[in-house]
Amino acid sequence: MLKIVVCVSGGGTNLQAIMDAIKSGKITNTELIAVISNNPGVKALERAKNFGVPGICMSPKDYASRAEFNDAFTAKMCELAPDLVVLAGFLVKIPEQMVSKFSGRIVNIHPSLIPSFCGVGYYGLKVHEKALERGVKVTGATVHFVNEGMDEGPIIAQKAVEVLDGDTPEILQRRVMEQAEWILLPQAIDDVANGRIKIVDGHVRRA
Ligand code: GRF
Repeated sequence: MLKIVVCVSGGGTNLQAIMDAIKSGKITNTELIAVISNNPGVKALERAKNFGVPGICMSPKDYASRAEFNDAFTAKMCELAPDLVVLAGFLVKIPEQMVSKFSGRIVNIHPSLIPSFCGVGYYGLKVHEKALERGVKVTGATVHFVNEGMDEGPIIAQKAVEVLDGDTPEILQRRVMEQAEWILLPQAIDDVANGRIKIVDGHVRRA
């Protein structure tokens, strides 16, 4: 059984897609043991509660320094000891100490086709604003392993989504979620849970 912790910051629709997939059997061999949010009172924590899984709130704002938060966050994750950490719209940079402790065991969903529209400053709606500003005709989503860089780890899966005339950032965000994110992330978790992917020379290969 793959034990997973999902980290969230807001609405938690990706978290919901994971929970739905666990319930329906699209994700097998997986147990969601906790949800961590850096924001109190978000919908994602309500979703966790409804699913009957502990929701934990840990915000950098509650600590005297980022270093203290990083230590506490890493310690909490070590205490929970998941086999896989899933970042599903989590807007906090993962501390390097945690990346090295959970090397190859943290995955993130990013709402663009990496390496486009990613890295520092590209989060949430901003990603879609930038894609529309640039006038791309195709965007999408990427699931990747997390390393010390920002959106730089080995890519697990990507899915393209069309950009349409008249799109606003909100409309495009919704389409990318529906057509890519909510499909890719549960699939990737199921792949990890069932040993279908491995990292070879820094690249993800299907086993
Ligand atoms: C998603 O688009 C995710 O890729 C991103 O932030 C959004 C989070 O949405 N980085 P939700 O909280 O899963 O609804």
